[in-house]
Amino acid sequence: MEFHASAQTCLTWSGDCLVIGLTEASLPLTGPLADLNTQVSGLLQELIDETEFTGKDGSTAVIRVGGTVKKLGIVGLGSADDLSLEGIRRAAAAAARMAKKEKCTTLGLSLPTYQNDPAQTAQAAVEGATLALHQDKRFKSEDKDNGKVVLEAIHLLDLAGQEAGITTAQAVCEGVILARELTSAPANVVTPAVLAQTAQEIAAAHGMDCEILEREQCEALGMGAYLGVALASDLPPKFIHLTYRPAGSPSRKLAIVGKGLTFDSGGLNIKGPGSGIEMMKIDMGGAAAVLGAAKAIGQLKPNAEVHFISAAVENMISGKAMRPGDILTASNGKTIEVNNTDAEGRLTLADALVFAEKLDVDAIVDLATLTGACIVALGDDIAGLFTEDDDLANALSTAAATAGEKFWRLPMEAKYFEGLKSIVADMKNTGPRPGGSITAALFLKQFVEKTPWVHLDVAGPVWTEKESGYNNPGGTGFGVRTLVEWVKAQD
Ligand code: BES
Ligand code: MN
Ligand code: ZN
Repeated sequence: MEFHASAQTCLTWSGDCLVIGLTEASLPLTGPLADLNTQVSGLLQELIDETEFTGKDGSTAVIRVGGTVKKLGIVGLGSADDLSLEGIRRAAAAAARMAKKEKCTTLGLSLPTYQNDPAQTAQAAVEGATLALHQDKRFKSEDKDNGKVVLEAIHLLDLAGQEAGITTAQAVCEGVILARELTSAPANVVTPAVLAQTAQEIAAAHGMDCEILEREQCEALGMGAYLGVALASDLPPKFIHLTYRPAGSPSRKLAIVGKGLTFDSGGLNIKGPGSGIEMMKIDMGGAAAVLGAAKAIGQLKPNAEVHFISAAVENMISGKAMRPGDILTASNGKTIEVNNTDAEGRLTLADALVFAEKLDVDAIVDLATLTGACIVALGDDIAGLFTEDDDLANALSTAAATAGEKFWRLPMEAKYFEGLKSIVADMKNTGPRPGGSITAALFLKQFVEKTPWVHLDVAGPVWTEKESGYNNPGGTGFGVRTLVEWVKAQD
């Protein structure tokens, strides 16, 4: 898809499909919109009347007008006072879907400018349209859209000179799409080795360093928690460490850690009926977001140094499997009684967090599809955010708001660590069912000594069954855009 930052307006552009974003305040039509209505012989007003269009957020309508534009569409943006970048993304998504459905080759998109910021407006519009149009057909034997008319170009009207916003969005979307495709691919395709290879490809493409630690190297580092999870799989674990270094001296040093379980069977505590074992290919959604962010950051070249880390592995069952009750020793020397082999993500993260802290970074963020309990608490669309560092919580929340991803801060209630007390070891890996996402965060805390750290439980939002806004059914790439915004904000 080509994007153009165009000096044309809704009155001068010609092409297949013109789509206008209207807020509730755009009605009744005045100024250029009234002129456009005259230009199309009143058909715009007719469309508004016939569909009882009020500009409500998410509403759309389209009419054939002929002449210099074939189709005229309208998309609702809701209240003008509440106009957000997310509203721009969703409107662009709706417009792109409409143009595709109407079999248009070119789309002229006229949207209000968000807070006098044409650069952010252009970026958000390109993100919304690109992500809405991304469809993953890698595993279909035939492409049903083959031979059909395709949307080739989107012209962002009244946004002349905003090429930089387009380029930024394209880098971000490449990252989101990579994360989506890694998440959607099944576990017989995306293995720990494939995640490692993906990291190496990103390094090669964008001049980054990549080190893959093999099992023996992880053993030498004492990563007993991570390697305990790896015992039963025939696929070797791959510990991924990808590093982006800015050209000058770094503004800050950051580590981003992703849970990379390419499949989670539960281990000997095998996932029972109704626990969604068949969905557990998504258990590397955190690692996917980390690699997606790396792909974007490698192109955007911010001033912070960023370490991208994932202890990639598969949680399987065999005679070699770790047993419930086994005691593992993590690389910081702490011992863990594995009272449930299905709480494997925190075991892998334990060693990954210790590794990250040794890099002497200023902050650590981890993303993990860690607990079903977090989905019970916050539903499918909102990720849990856990930290004891208010500045980091605020920085992540600000980045997330700009990115249009939803997080909700949950408490690190210290008292609940009692639930992880073990008779024989330093801690157990699971506590009682209530507050399961909190005890998981408290477990991780045992592996970070002093570096500001935030844990993001993304179990819900990395996957969606339904089309919504710019998301399509499948992996969402959740987390990439927040991470990119957060890293950029350290400049
Ligand atoms: N990968 C799962 C969590 C998960 C569940 C992710 C649903 C995405 C969708 C994790 O490894 C797990 O099994 N967690 C257990 C923890 C329990 C054993 C304490 C859970 O949430 O049930
Ligand atoms: Mn599990
Ligand atoms: Zn898991």
